[in-house]
Amino acid sequence: MQDVRKREALELFAPLPRHYDRVAAVLSFGQDPRWRRAMVGAVKARGGERVLDVATGTGLVAKELVRRYGCDVVGVDQSQEMLARARARVERDPALEAHVSLTHGEAERLPFEDGEFDHLTFTYLLRYVEDPGATMKELARVVRPGGRVASLEFAVPASQPWQGLWRVYTRVGLPALGRVVSREWADTGRFLAKSIPEFYERCPMGRVVELWEEAGIGELHVRSMSLGGGVVMWGRKRAGGPRAATTGTAEEAGREPESEGAATGEASADGDAQPA
Ligand SMILES: C[S@@+](CC[C@H](N)C(=O)[O-])C[C@H]1O[C@@H](n2cnc3c(N)ncnc32)[C@H](O)[C@@H]1O
Repeated sequence: MQDVRKREALELFAPLPRHYDRVAAVLSFGQDPRWRRAMVGAVKARGGERVLDVATGTGLVAKELVRRYGCDVVGVDQSQEMLARARARVERDPALEAHVSLTHGEAERLPFEDGEFDHLTFTYLLRYVEDPGATMKELARVVRPGGRVASLEFAVPASQPWQGLWRVYTRVGLPALGRVVSREWADTGRFLAKSIPEFYERCPMGRVVELWEEAGIGELHVRSMSLGGGVVMWGRKRAGGPRAATTGTAEEAGREPESEGAATGEASADGDAQPA
Protein backbone atom coordinates (compact mmCIF):
# COMPACT_ATOMS: atom_id res chain seq x y z
CA MET A 1 0.00 0.00 0.00
CA GLN A 2 1.24 3.51 -0.86
CA ASP A 3 2.07 5.69 2.16
CA VAL A 4 0.58 9.15 2.57
CA ARG A 5 3.75 11.09 1.72
CA LYS A 6 4.29 9.17 -1.51
CA ARG A 7 0.68 9.67 -2.60
CA GLU A 8 0.95 13.40 -1.79
CA ALA A 9 4.18 13.71 -3.81
CA LEU A 10 2.75 11.85 -6.81
CA GLU A 11 -0.38 14.03 -6.81
CA LEU A 12 1.60 17.22 -6.24
CA PHE A 13 3.99 16.77 -9.19
CA ALA A 14 1.55 15.31 -11.74
CA PRO A 15 0.22 18.69 -12.99
CA LEU A 16 3.45 20.70 -12.54
CA PRO A 17 5.93 19.74 -15.29
CA ARG A 18 4.86 22.28 -17.94
CA HIS A 19 5.87 25.38 -15.96
CA TYR A 20 8.21 23.67 -13.49
CA ASP A 21 11.59 25.15 -14.44
CA ARG A 22 10.52 28.79 -14.56
CA VAL A 23 8.14 28.71 -11.63
CA ALA A 24 10.57 26.88 -9.35
CA ALA A 25 13.10 29.66 -10.02
CA VAL A 26 10.55 32.42 -9.40
CA LEU A 27 9.22 30.83 -6.17
CA SER A 28 12.76 30.74 -4.79
CA PHE A 29 13.48 34.38 -5.78
CA GLY A 30 15.78 33.18 -8.53
CA GLN A 31 17.98 31.29 -6.07
CA ASP A 32 17.14 27.70 -6.98
CA PRO A 33 19.19 27.51 -10.24
CA ARG A 34 22.14 28.91 -8.30
CA TRP A 35 21.74 26.31 -5.51
CA ARG A 36 21.54 23.56 -8.12
CA ARG A 37 24.78 24.78 -9.74
CA ALA A 38 26.51 24.85 -6.34
CA MET A 39 25.40 21.26 -5.63
CA VAL A 40 26.61 20.05 -9.03
CA GLY A 41 29.90 21.88 -8.40
CA ALA A 42 30.46 19.72 -5.31
CA VAL A 43 30.24 16.45 -7.28
CA LYS A 44 33.49 16.94 -9.21
CA ALA A 45 32.76 14.11 -11.63
CA ARG A 46 35.05 13.28 -14.53
CA GLY A 47 34.14 12.63 -18.16
CA GLY A 48 33.17 8.97 -18.56
CA GLU A 49 32.02 8.58 -14.94
CA ARG A 50 28.40 7.56 -14.18
CA VAL A 51 26.27 9.73 -11.92
CA LEU A 52 22.83 8.74 -10.62
CA ASP A 53 20.46 11.71 -10.23
CA VAL A 54 17.60 10.68 -7.94
CA ALA A 55 14.32 12.68 -8.02
CA THR A 56 15.53 14.02 -11.35
CA GLY A 57 12.16 15.67 -12.09
CA THR A 58 12.37 17.57 -15.37
CA GLY A 59 16.09 16.80 -15.64
CA LEU A 60 17.61 20.13 -14.59
CA VAL A 61 20.35 18.55 -12.46
CA ALA A 62 21.10 15.92 -15.12
CA LYS A 63 21.50 18.69 -17.69
CA GLU A 64 23.84 20.69 -15.45
CA LEU A 65 25.96 17.58 -14.67
CA VAL A 66 26.45 16.86 -18.38
CA ARG A 67 27.13 20.51 -19.22
CA ARG A 68 29.72 20.79 -16.50
CA TYR A 69 31.51 17.44 -16.58
CA GLY A 70 30.53 15.61 -19.79
CA CYS A 71 29.77 12.60 -17.54
CA ASP A 72 27.02 10.02 -18.08
CA VAL A 73 23.87 10.50 -16.02
CA VAL A 74 21.02 8.18 -15.15
CA GLY A 75 17.97 10.13 -13.94
CA VAL A 76 15.39 8.39 -11.76
CA ASP A 77 12.00 9.70 -10.67
CA GLN A 78 8.76 8.20 -9.41
CA SER A 79 6.60 10.68 -11.36
CA GLN A 80 5.89 9.62 -14.96
CA GLU A 81 4.72 13.17 -15.70
CA MET A 82 7.98 14.79 -14.54
CA LEU A 83 9.98 12.13 -16.42
CA ALA A 84 8.04 12.83 -19.62
CA ARG A 85 9.17 16.45 -19.40
CA ALA A 86 12.76 15.34 -18.77
CA ARG A 87 12.57 13.02 -21.81
CA ALA A 88 11.38 15.90 -24.02
CA ARG A 89 14.33 18.00 -22.80
CA VAL A 90 16.84 15.22 -23.52
CA GLU A 91 15.38 14.34 -26.93
CA ARG A 92 15.68 17.88 -28.28
CA ASP A 93 19.35 18.22 -27.29
CA PRO A 94 21.83 15.79 -28.95
CA ALA A 95 24.52 16.63 -26.35
CA LEU A 96 22.16 15.49 -23.60
CA GLU A 97 20.82 12.52 -25.53
CA ALA A 98 24.34 11.09 -25.79
CA HIS A 99 24.84 11.21 -22.02
CA VAL A 100 21.48 10.96 -20.20
CA SER A 101 19.17 8.02 -19.70
CA LEU A 102 15.95 8.22 -17.70
CA THR A 103 14.28 5.53 -15.63
CA HIS A 104 11.07 5.32 -13.66
CA GLY A 105 11.86 4.27 -10.09
CA GLU A 106 11.64 5.06 -6.40
CA ALA A 107 14.41 6.36 -4.16
CA GLU A 108 13.35 3.87 -1.48
CA ARG A 109 13.95 0.89 -3.82
CA LEU A 110 16.50 1.80 -6.48
CA PRO A 111 16.60 -0.66 -9.38
CA PHE A 112 20.43 -0.80 -9.37
CA GLU A 113 23.26 -2.98 -8.04
CA ASP A 114 25.44 -2.09 -5.05
CA GLY A 115 28.22 0.39 -5.96
CA GLU A 116 27.04 0.74 -9.56
CA PHE A 117 27.54 4.53 -9.72
CA ASP A 118 30.60 6.75 -9.31
CA HIS A 119 28.55 9.56 -7.72
CA LEU A 120 24.96 10.40 -6.80
CA THR A 121 22.87 13.59 -6.55
CA PHE A 122 19.40 14.12 -5.12
CA THR A 123 17.28 17.26 -4.89
CA TYR A 124 14.24 18.11 -2.77
CA LEU A 125 13.68 14.44 -1.95
CA LEU A 126 13.82 13.61 1.77
CA ARG A 127 10.70 15.65 2.62
CA TYR A 128 8.68 13.26 0.45
CA VAL A 129 9.80 9.94 1.91
CA GLU A 130 8.35 8.16 4.93
CA ASP A 131 11.70 6.98 6.34
CA PRO A 132 14.57 9.40 5.45
CA GLY A 133 17.16 7.20 7.23
CA ALA A 134 16.30 4.07 5.24
CA THR A 135 16.24 6.13 2.02
CA MET A 136 19.70 7.61 2.75
CA LYS A 137 21.06 4.05 3.16
CA GLU A 138 19.44 2.99 -0.10
CA LEU A 139 20.98 6.00 -1.93
CA ALA A 140 24.44 5.29 -0.49
CA ARG A 141 24.15 1.59 -1.37
CA VAL A 142 24.40 2.20 -5.13
CA VAL A 143 27.51 4.45 -4.91
CA ARG A 144 31.03 3.01 -5.10
CA PRO A 145 33.31 3.57 -2.08
CA GLY A 146 34.97 6.99 -2.45
CA GLY A 147 32.16 8.30 -4.68
CA ARG A 148 30.51 11.62 -3.89
CA VAL A 149 26.92 12.12 -2.77
CA ALA A 150 25.46 15.64 -3.00
CA SER A 151 22.03 17.05 -2.24
CA LEU A 152 19.99 20.23 -2.30
CA GLU A 153 17.00 21.04 -0.09
CA PHE A 154 15.06 24.05 1.09
CA ALA A 155 15.78 25.14 4.66
CA VAL A 156 14.31 27.41 7.31
CA PRO A 157 16.68 30.33 8.12
CA ALA A 158 18.06 29.79 11.63
CA SER A 159 18.14 33.39 12.84
CA GLN A 160 15.95 36.50 12.96
CA PRO A 161 14.94 38.59 11.10
CA TRP A 162 15.34 36.17 8.18
CA GLN A 163 13.31 33.41 9.83
CA GLY A 164 10.35 35.76 10.39
CA LEU A 165 10.54 37.10 6.84
CA TRP A 166 10.84 33.54 5.51
CA ARG A 167 7.66 32.52 7.35
CA VAL A 168 5.71 35.49 5.96
CA TYR A 169 7.06 34.84 2.45
CA THR A 170 6.27 31.11 2.47
CA ARG A 171 2.80 31.51 4.06
CA VAL A 172 1.63 34.54 2.07
CA GLY A 173 4.05 35.22 -0.81
CA LEU A 174 4.48 31.68 -2.16
CA PRO A 175 0.76 30.86 -2.52
CA ALA A 176 0.08 34.34 -3.95
CA LEU A 177 2.86 34.00 -6.54
CA GLY A 178 1.67 30.46 -7.32
CA ARG A 179 -1.86 31.79 -7.97
CA VAL A 180 -0.48 33.96 -10.76
CA VAL A 181 0.45 30.77 -12.66
CA SER A 182 -2.32 28.28 -11.83
CA ARG A 183 -4.42 26.73 -9.08
CA GLU A 184 -1.95 23.82 -8.92
CA TRP A 185 0.99 26.14 -8.30
CA ALA A 186 -0.97 28.00 -5.61
CA ASP A 187 -1.51 24.58 -3.94
CA THR A 188 2.22 23.90 -4.30
CA GLY A 189 3.04 27.21 -2.61
CA ARG A 190 0.75 26.33 0.31
CA PHE A 191 2.17 22.81 0.44
CA LEU A 192 5.79 24.06 0.61
CA ALA A 193 4.98 26.54 3.40
CA LYS A 194 3.90 23.54 5.53
CA SER A 195 6.13 20.78 4.25
CA ILE A 196 9.51 22.52 4.76
CA PRO A 197 9.13 23.40 8.48
CA GLU A 198 7.35 20.09 9.17
CA PHE A 199 10.28 18.16 7.75
CA TYR A 200 12.78 19.94 10.03
CA GLU A 201 10.49 19.37 13.03
CA ARG A 202 10.56 15.63 12.43
CA CYS A 203 14.18 15.60 11.25
CA PRO A 204 16.25 18.63 12.45
CA MET A 205 19.43 19.49 10.54
CA GLY A 206 21.60 17.71 13.14
CA ARG A 207 19.57 14.54 12.60
CA VAL A 208 19.91 14.86 8.80
CA VAL A 209 23.70 14.94 9.28
CA GLU A 210 23.48 11.80 11.44
CA LEU A 211 21.44 10.03 8.77
CA TRP A 212 24.13 10.72 6.15
CA GLU A 213 26.81 9.42 8.52
CA GLU A 214 24.79 6.34 9.46
CA ALA A 215 24.33 5.64 5.74
CA GLY A 216 28.13 5.44 5.41
CA ILE A 217 28.81 8.90 3.97
CA GLY A 218 31.74 10.76 5.53
CA GLU A 219 33.74 13.97 4.91
CA LEU A 220 30.43 15.82 5.21
CA HIS A 221 29.91 19.45 4.26
CA VAL A 222 26.73 21.37 5.03
CA ARG A 223 26.48 24.66 3.22
CA SER A 224 23.75 27.13 4.01
CA MET A 225 22.89 29.43 1.08
CA SER A 226 20.78 32.55 0.47
CA LEU A 227 20.45 33.59 4.15
CA GLY A 228 19.54 30.01 5.10
CA GLY A 229 16.76 29.44 2.54
CA GLY A 230 18.63 26.60 0.83
CA VAL A 231 21.07 23.96 2.02
CA VAL A 232 23.59 22.06 -0.09
CA MET A 233 25.20 18.97 1.46
CA TRP A 234 27.90 16.71 0.13
CA GLY A 235 30.22 13.95 1.28
CA ARG A 236 31.96 10.76 0.20
CA LYS A 237 30.89 7.16 0.55
CA ARG A 238 33.13 5.43 3.10
CA ALA A 239 34.63 2.05 2.32
CA GLY A 240 33.07 0.48 5.45
CA GLY A 241 29.40 1.00 4.44
CA PRO A 242 26.55 1.99 6.81
CA ARG A 243 27.14 2.16 10.52
CA ALA A 244 24.90 1.77 13.57
CA ALA A 245 22.73 4.67 14.73
CA THR A 246 24.61 7.39 16.61
CA THR A 247 23.88 7.28 20.35
CA GLY A 248 24.38 10.99 21.17
CA THR A 249 21.79 13.72 20.69
CA ALA A 250 21.14 15.29 17.35
CA GLU A 251 22.76 18.48 18.61
CA GLU A 252 25.93 16.59 19.58
CA ALA A 253 26.16 14.91 16.20
CA GLY A 254 25.04 17.89 14.11
CA ARG A 255 27.38 20.53 12.89
CA GLU A 256 26.83 24.18 12.24
CA PRO A 257 26.09 24.69 8.58
CA GLU A 258 28.87 26.48 6.73
CA SER A 259 27.52 29.86 5.68
CA GLU A 260 27.96 31.18 2.16
CA GLY A 261 30.51 33.68 3.36
CA ALA A 262 32.58 30.92 4.95
CA ALA A 263 33.20 29.09 1.69
CA THR A 264 34.61 25.62 2.13
CA GLY A 265 36.92 25.75 -0.84
CA GLU A 266 34.96 22.90 -2.41
CA ALA A 267 32.15 24.68 -4.24
CA SER A 268 31.72 28.41 -4.48
CA ALA A 269 28.42 30.31 -4.45
CA ASP A 270 28.15 30.28 -8.22
CA GLY A 271 29.06 26.61 -8.27
CA ASP A 272 32.57 26.95 -9.64
CA ALA A 273 34.67 24.16 -8.21
CA GLN A 274 37.80 25.39 -6.47
CA PRO A 275 40.82 23.49 -5.31
CA ALA A 276 40.19 22.11 -1.80
C1 LIG B 1 10.94 19.49 -6.53
S1 LIG B 1 11.19 18.18 -7.68
C2 LIG B 1 12.92 18.31 -7.99
C3 LIG B 1 13.27 18.00 -9.41
C4 LIG B 1 14.70 18.26 -9.83
N1 LIG B 1 15.65 17.42 -9.15
C5 LIG B 1 15.11 19.71 -9.71
O1 LIG B 1 16.23 19.99 -9.29
O2 LIG B 1 14.34 20.58 -10.07
C6 LIG B 1 11.13 16.75 -6.66
C7 LIG B 1 11.05 15.47 -7.45
O3 LIG B 1 11.17 14.38 -6.55
C8 LIG B 1 10.40 13.31 -7.05
N2 LIG B 1 10.21 12.35 -5.95
C9 LIG B 1 9.60 12.57 -4.77
N3 LIG B 1 9.66 11.47 -4.00
C10 LIG B 1 10.34 10.53 -4.72
C11 LIG B 1 10.74 9.17 -4.45
N4 LIG B 1 10.42 8.59 -3.30
N5 LIG B 1 11.41 8.50 -5.41
C12 LIG B 1 11.71 9.12 -6.61
N6 LIG B 1 11.36 10.38 -6.90
C13 LIG B 1 10.69 11.09 -5.97
C14 LIG B 1 9.14 13.99 -7.54
O4 LIG B 1 8.41 13.18 -8.42
C15 LIG B 1 9.72 15.25 -8.19
O5 LIG B 1 9.98 15.06 -9.55
